[in-house]
Parts: sequence; structure tokens; C-alpha cells
Amino acid sequence: MEVDLTTGSAVATGSPAGAVEDCGDVPVVLASALTRRYGDGDAGVDALRGVSLAVVRGEVVAVMGPSGSGKSTLLHIVAGLDRPTSGEAFIDGVELSGLRDQELTLLRRHKVGFVFQFFNLLPMLSAEENVVLPLKLAGAKPDAAWVDEVIGSVGLGDRRRHRPAELSGGQQQRVAIARALITQPSILLADEPTGNLDSKAGREVLELLRTCAAGYGQTILTVTHEPRVSSVADRILLLADGLIARELGHVSTSEVMSAIDALES
Ligand SMILES: Nc1ncnc2c1ncn2[C@@H]1O[C@H](COP(=O)(O)OP(=O)(O)O)[C@@H](O)[C@H]1O
Ligand SMILES: [Mg+2]
Repeated sequence: MEVDLTTGSAVATGSPAGAVEDCGDVPVVLASALTRRYGDGDAGVDALRGVSLAVVRGEVVAVMGPSGSGKSTLLHIVAGLDRPTSGEAFIDGVELSGLRDQELTLLRRHKVGFVFQFFNLLPMLSAEENVVLPLKLAGAKPDAAWVDEVIGSVGLGDRRRHRPAELSGGQQQRVAIARALITQPSILLADEPTGNLDSKAGREVLELLRTCAAGYGQTILTVTHEPRVSSVADRILLLADGLIARELGHVSTSEVMSAIDALES
């Protein structure tokens, strides 16, 4: 498989919309009957027991469910950070298990932005250096106007020279979101991005996800425990015991809360 190394030129246009690839009707994320078993024999754990989903371009999908229901496992497989025991995962129509390690690394670098619960910033780098790191790793020259736009859009224009330790949790997560957006990925994956934040910072991060979707047409798949995600997400998938137990469309926060309660009782 040829991986397109055009991140630099796409970035140089400074136009996020222009850089979005036209993949027709191919979903950005497609997962088919994914299973994932950790360990073997009686001690084995079935983290996923047959999960299928499709996320189309521009869609914001949230995954919710009790702790241990397989949410992180699902996200890691979709990101190419873990491989399924059976089933297939595709990004922009490319089947991940068919790729060699090097090809997978390149696909991840160009098509996937990942936001972690604990930010995962490099402590010795400034906010701006953290944000542009994925471009540097890809050998692309950061376009100053695009870097300015992304850092501005996450509200960190006046914090770009600060190191992570000099930033609040909410600010650090916004650096991590900017880092995930800088390569204009096909899919932004976030695993409990508000899980380590207070309520106000958490709300700001959810609002930022909405801005990314509305402003850049960014496709997003996020794991969250925040029922308020209903104001951001087009669909909510409720995961229980390694299976999608229910799917919710545009519903109110209280409907999300009752659905979760029903799942856990
Ligand atoms: N590396 C691992 N080794 C063994 N079991 C694991 C591993 N990662 C996750 N699990 C188990 O798989 C199940 C799903 O985990 P996870 O996907 O992290 O759930 P969630 O993110 O919904 O809390 C849990 O029972 C967990 O203990
Ligand atoms: Mg998890």
C-alpha cells in the first residue's frame, strides 16, 4: 500500500476543508465483528465479543458504557494500536490487519489523531512544540498560519511557550487536541478526554470537540462518561460486556443518563 505523504502540502494550504480527502461513500471508520480476547484458557478475558460499527465523514459518535465494557479496547483497535483477535477494522477503506508495522505507523501518523485521558504530552517541550511534533515526525514542515489557527482554535494563543507543567489540566488537554488536529486526520479518536478534568474544563473540551466537528468537519469517535456529550454527538453507542447493547440518536442528557442507568442495573 502506498501511503500518501502529502501532509505538508495539505497543511501549507491552510485550508482544512480543502485538505479533507474525498472518499465517496466509504466510511471513515468501519469495524466488522471485532473480538478481542486477552490471555488464554480459563483466565482469558473477552474484552470485545463482536462489535461492528461505521462512522461516516463529519459524524461525531460517542461510546459510553461501564468500566471494563471494552471501550478502550475498541478505540485502540480502531486506532491500530492493538489488533483484534478476530474481525476487521478499516480506516478510509484500508484494512488495518493487512498492513505491516511500518505501513500501520504511517497510516496512524497521517489519518489518526488520538487524545488520551492523561494528555500524554512531552514534559520538556512547549505547548507549541508538542502540537507540531506529529508534523515533525512525518517530516513535514509546519505551516505557520495553520499552526496559528489550530493553537488559536483551542484557545492557547497566549500559552504556546508554556510547558505542560505550567498549564492547567484543561489547557493540557487542549494542547493534546491541537496535537491530534494538526495533521488534519481522517478520524479524531479520544478516550475519556474529560475523564481527568473538573466539570468546567470538561465542558470546554466537549465544546471544543463540537467546534472541531462544526468548523473543520472533523470526524470524531470519543469514549466518554459525560452524559452531556449528547449535546455534541450525532449518535451514542452504549457498550456493555464487549457488545453494543444500544444505540441512541439525538437525545437529551437525561435520556442518556437513564439509558446508562438501565445498562448498569
Ligand atoms: N492488556 C490487558 N490484559 C488483560 N486484560 C485486559 C487488558 N486490557 C483490558 N483488559 C480487560 O478487558 C476488559 C475491557 O477493558 P477496557 O477496554 O479497558 O474497558 P473500558 O475502557 O470500557 O473500561 C476488562 O475486563 C479489562 O480488564
Ligand atoms: Mg477505558
